[in-house]
Amino acid sequence: MPDSPARIDAERLWSRLSELSEIGKSEDGGVTRLSFTQEERAAKDLVASYMREAGLEVREDAIGNLIGRCEGRDQCAPIVLAGSHVDSVRNGGDFDGPLGVLGAVEALQTMSERGLETERSVEVVAFTDEEGARFSSGMIGSRALAGTLRPEDLESEDRDGVSIAEVMRASSLDPERIGEAARAAGSVHSYVELHIEQGGILENRALPVGIVTGIAGPVWLRLTLTGEAAHAGTTPMDLRRDALAAAAAVMSRIEREATRTGTSVGTVGQLDLSPGGINIVPGRVSFSLDLRDIDEDIRNDVEARIMHEAMLLCEKRGVSLETQTLQRLPPAPCSKLVREAARAACEELGFEPFELASGAGHDGMHLTELCPIGMIFVRSKSGISHNPAEYSSKEDCAAGAAVLYRTLLGLAGEI
Ligand code: HGY
Ligand code: MN
Ligand code: MN
Repeated sequence: MPDSPARIDAERLWSRLSELSEIGKSEDGGVTRLSFTQEERAAKDLVASYMREAGLEVREDAIGNLIGRCEGRDQCAPIVLAGSHVDSVRNGGDFDGPLGVLGAVEALQTMSERGLETERSVEVVAFTDEEGARFSSGMIGSRALAGTLRPEDLESEDRDGVSIAEVMRASSLDPERIGEAARAAGSVHSYVELHIEQGGILENRALPVGIVTGIAGPVWLRLTLTGEAAHAGTTPMDLRRDALAAAAAVMSRIEREATRTGTSVGTVGQLDLSPGGINIVPGRVSFSLDLRDIDEDIRNDVEARIMHEAMLLCEKRGVSLETQTLQRLPPAPCSKLVREAARAACEELGFEPFELASGAGHDGMHLTELCPIGMIFVRSKSGISHNPAEYSSKEDCAAGAAVLYRTLLGLAGEI
């Protein structure tokens, strides 16, 4: 007997979001929960307690993904996965990640409280290190679950030179055993993630929820420019090999080339220079480049144009240029299967099934070989995210969780 349109417990979801957001919160209201820190650990422990309240079987896998399982009637059927992450960027917001994890816990708890059973088992996952804010690679939990995380990926280091492998050992995880987190081919029916939009499209159309068509593919590079440190007072402008002046010229090309296409985006988020004296011409600069587009060819063309211009600029200034690729992901299409299930859920609940692309990256990008993926977005106030001002209303979070609840029932086969 199909369940009436979901009325998930909006108050419970909101109070859990609020409680979780206090972990890693600073005075200015920003949240910092970097992977393999005590803040992420405390967040996973709190979420585990919610999972147990929801009646889920709770465990952590070989990479530290936190998993809550609700048994389906057919133990042999491929399972449905839902989830997101509880790690954050530095000084981020309350909703990026937690909404997807707690929305899925809320959906499963509502199913259990209504005595609903499904054909397929459903698992909620809080993936380890989605953001990559500490080790500049990211999504290691979903890569391990997909079986694509390699031992060399665990050599990435944080700002203090500590590697992922070292912090894993300190957290009683064995880097040699990450293969145990991988799911067998055919074992997962589908993956669906509830997430804040982190942009302004839904707000501009006055819609609370949306269905994601595809996820833009990010390239993360680190560019290192080496010129020559020199005396600021005695070195004439035409004799300098100023690494920062060269970097500034490259950055203006980044902005110009990324803007030119109208769809791609380019961001320099990290910048280090040395030696860093007021009276010293900078000899060395290193900065990050985050380049994205929903179309891989356009993104690759923008990247090639930027790197060509950077090379010419540096050559002219007598500055050497080294480039390191930290992450390179193709855009990920969302499957018809999950989009249709989310569309049916929206229509059943009276929401417009509006479709939009995701400019932000998400764990589902690594699961496309394992199973069909899809995402449900919730409106972001002023489109702000990765910022303490990140906000989605209680009503919109509840709307998103209700759509997720109906979508999960559709994918898992409500009995
Ligand atoms: O970078 C991203 O798009 C995501 O927040 N990890
Ligand atoms: Mn994020
Ligand atoms: Mn996220």
